[in-house]
Amino acid sequence: MATQMHNSLVAVNPRAPYEIRQYPTVSPTGDEILIRVKWTASTPFDLHQADGGLFLEEPQRTGSAAAGVVVEVGSDVQHFKVGDRVFGYAHQQPDWKAHQEYATAPEWVFGKIPDKFTMEQAVTVPENFVTAFHTISNELGLPTPWPKPEGYVPPRADDRILIWGAASSVGQFAISILTFYGYRHLIATASPRHHAYLKQQGAEECFDYRSPTVVDDLLKKYQRGDGPAFSLIIDCIGSQAGSFGSVGLVSKIAQRGTAVAIMLPVILKHATDGEVPEYSMDAQDSAQWAEGTNVRGVRTHFYWQNELFKQKLQTEIMPQMLAAGHVVPNRYRVIEGRDLLDRATKALDLLRSGVSGEKLVWRVSEE
Ligand SMILES: NC(=O)c1ccc[n+]([C@@H]2O[C@H](COP(=O)([O-])OP(=O)(O)OC[C@H]3O[C@@H](n4cnc5c(N)ncnc54)[C@H](OP(=O)(O)O)[C@@H]3O)[C@@H](O)[C@H]2O)c1
Repeated sequence: MATQMHNSLVAVNPRAPYEIRQYPTVSPTGDEILIRVKWTASTPFDLHQADGGLFLEEPQRTGSAAAGVVVEVGSDVQHFKVGDRVFGYAHQQPDWKAHQEYATAPEWVFGKIPDKFTMEQAVTVPENFVTAFHTISNELGLPTPWPKPEGYVPPRADDRILIWGAASSVGQFAISILTFYGYRHLIATASPRHHAYLKQQGAEECFDYRSPTVVDDLLKKYQRGDGPAFSLIIDCIGSQAGSFGSVGLVSKIAQRGTAVAIMLPVILKHATDGEVPEYSMDAQDSAQWAEGTNVRGVRTHFYWQNELFKQKLQTEIMPQMLAAGHVVPNRYRVIEGRDLLDRATKALDLLRSGVSGEKLVWRVSEE
């Protein structure tokens, strides 16, 4: 019998246009499921890879967030059946990738979409829901018990936590998840038009990261005695580029005793229509840090090394927290286009010009 083939988007070279190639549709075995991918959400990583060649092995199938329908299940699958609507951060192998009409991946990279959400909404969640959990647990060392015990108060509930670039998708999930676990003093930086929304998600105070006095304002308001103004900081942007480079500003706020988690790659130069981006994977070297600051670069790629996260983060925790309203989908814009290649190319162009407080979502399969 002829092997069934499907279309997939591929990045062939840094800065070269995306192409469509055909790949065999792999029948699931063991704990794998085969899904018809309906929707995906763009991520800055698409741009880092397409323009900057980050971890690019040509030709590279792309895409890390998928929403679709299960069409076949392996013999050991426990959580899903044919016809289930699923969403997930599935990126580690070419067959798992989201920018193709069919993806075959282990069931632990998916969850069932709660009934009240569309696929367009759901697909905004997985990548940075997982990133925020991984950052909070692995980089900041905060406990994330599941199920959360009744009346749970975390050991550092009163620590002040700075979320830099909180209007980003990573920042929004970090605020919601820290709020869910009982952290009471989340201070955010973002453009002023996002402040009301971020306070609704759980931020105690918001500051404009473009204000020339933002560093002084934060230190003046929160520095008390000898301790650091913030014991924990998440830099959701990881940028050295331009006047508002987040790592430079964060490094002026972090002090002895502060733990800083920085999203990698550190962006040294942004991708634009005319310029090739530059990146570094070294968070420590990205700025001058005060002695005694604990700086860590975030690599969500490795989240599955936490056994609880591998078993439950996407199959159980993500759908339950979404259904209960503890996290909400990111606001989003649908990218229309005549086919997969056209939609992907338009989304990449928009990423180059910069997005603010919204995800770009687009159809993968035509129906
Ligand atoms: N290493 C990893 O495991 C990992 C995982 C996930 C994400 N990341 C990286 O984390 C970064 C954020 O990802 P994302 O999906 O959350 O991005 P996103 O949602 O596309 O971020 C867009 C937001 O970034 C904010 N922003 C841009 N430049 C800023 C600056 N200099 N200072 C403060 N805020 C700034 C903007 O805020 P305003 O609208 O307020 O201006 C905008 O709303 C990306 O570089 C991504 O590759 C890394």
